[in-house]
Amino acid sequence: MPDAVRPLIAGNWKMNGLRETGQALAQTIAKRRPGQACDLLLCPPATLLEMVGAALTGSGVLLGAQDCHQEIKGAHTGDVSAAMLADVGCRFVILGHSERRGEGHGETDADVAAKVQTAHGEGLVAIVCVGERAAEHAQGATLTVIESQIKGSLPEGVTPENTVIAYEPVWAIGSGRTPISEEIEAAHKRIRANLGARFGTPEAFRILYGGSVTAANAPEILSIHGVNGALVGGASLDAEAFCKIAESCG
Ligand code: PGA
Repeated sequence: MPDAVRPLIAGNWKMNGLRETGQALAQTIAKRRPGQACDLLLCPPATLLEMVGAALTGSGVLLGAQDCHQEIKGAHTGDVSAAMLADVGCRFVILGHSERRGEGHGETDADVAAKVQTAHGEGLVAIVCVGERAAEHAQGATLTVIESQIKGSLPEGVTPENTVIAYEPVWAIGSGRTPISEEIEAAHKRIRANLGARFGTPEAFRILYGGSVTAANAPEILSIHGVNGALVGGASLDAEAFCKIAESCG
């Protein structure tokens, strides 16, 4: 790891895992506690938060959620609030994932910024996802797109302690394809420059890469300058693969 900040390896289980499999996965990771040189975070579905939190107790592996509503409470059928996540032991929440933006759930940059603010108010660290779509990548618009998402998705009050950014090209998620190292480095550099210009201390921010991270490609991706960890989807459902990714941090 060329960078000074402690890397974070986060598993986004998405809509996967029932109680039995979820508990077993969390217990295996907690017992092995791989990658002593990084922080580890599991983000199971909301139904498993309490059980996974219990399985992680004492292991140092952190608990996070995949989304929250921008209001603290109220008439929002089916939604989960940041206060509920903090109450069940979450320290982190993923916000603005591409599966929640756009056609998935129609979330805009402004929606994401409102959620980030609410999450901060409840003491949660927001992991804010940005990334270009395939057509934007093909047009060479990657840096413009992520710059505009970074500007629109972050409220005032962002610090390296309360916010992590995940650069996740939409076309790389679940596809087995990843950008070349130079593209990842350029994207992280642009994100960091924007964070620095608005919030100061650019080097202190953790900027993760996400999109088809595997045990095989993690060593290379995690050694790219400016990459401070990974947000892992599919491979985080396999204890062996997830542990290997964490161990790539040293
Ligand atoms: P993937 O998902 O690792 O399965 O590509 C990453 C993500 O969506 O966070």
